[in-house]
Amino acid sequence: MNNARNDAPIGVFDSGVGGLTVARAIIDQLPNESVTYVGDTANCPYGPRPIAQVRELALNVMDQLVADGVKMLVIACNSASAAVLHDARERYTTKLGIPVIEVIRPAARSALRATRNGKIGVIATQATVQSGAYEDALLTVPDIEVVSAPAPRFVEFAEAGITTGSELIATAREYLEPIKSAGVDTLVLGCTHYPFLSGAIGYVMGEDVLLVSSAEETAKDVYRALTEENILRSSDAGKPVYQFNVTGESDSFQVLARRFLGPKVAHVSHVDVPRIDSRTSTQEKL
Ligand code: DGL
Repeated sequence: MNNARNDAPIGVFDSGVGGLTVARAIIDQLPNESVTYVGDTANCPYGPRPIAQVRELALNVMDQLVADGVKMLVIACNSASAAVLHDARERYTTKLGIPVIEVIRPAARSALRATRNGKIGVIATQATVQSGAYEDALLTVPDIEVVSAPAPRFVEFAEAGITTGSELIATAREYLEPIKSAGVDTLVLGCTHYPFLSGAIGYVMGEDVLLVSSAEETAKDVYRALTEENILRSSDAGKPVYQFNVTGESDSFQVLARRFLGPKVAHVSHVDVPRIDSRTSTQEKL
């Protein structure tokens, strides 16, 4: 039996193209589900911003997705997950009954399952590294060592669709050197943009290091929550609708999104959210 709630789309968002890695895993695991994606490209990157600002940006996007009628929110961005998860669950789950899924715990879970020597590397944005969210999630298990490093320019490369070349490899060597020399056997790609660069990252880290990203494991959390809440969309409900929105310029996003998701990306629309200059201080949003 299907009703309006079951039929409603899953709302997925990120600062840009990164969350498409998560959207793709959701579409693979749940092919009947409709997805509304927002890339907040007008405010990208989130990573260098203070946590309070990332929180405000993320709440603005999620408010809009909720106003558009999504049945679930997926924070497909580590920086936003670190900044806003607690508040988002209070604001949308407790008050409105809308489940909120994030990406940090799923990636941490995969890394803990994968590591053999207990040494886990984490690369992420400055906001995520500073939040300590991965340490909080990984150090719940005894005898685990975590080495983290920010890799901010990886977001620029991913947004520009640059996945090869000497500049990228040199940047990867610089960012990854401290992690590689610590002898990790598992590396968490702690920013949803980074799987676009897994070729370069894997090349620099070497084949003995397993790269872990949040996409697959996060999609499993989405699957579990939809099943347990009994809000799966039925296969009789017709073809799912995929809607892709950006808050900034849409052309380059469309090129990258098509490269990654193929014909599912029929059209990319523009939506407005408040732009926040990264230098301005933010006001508390309640
Ligand atoms: N993809 C995001 C993340 O997972 C944010 C990247 C950025 O905007 O800096 O952290």
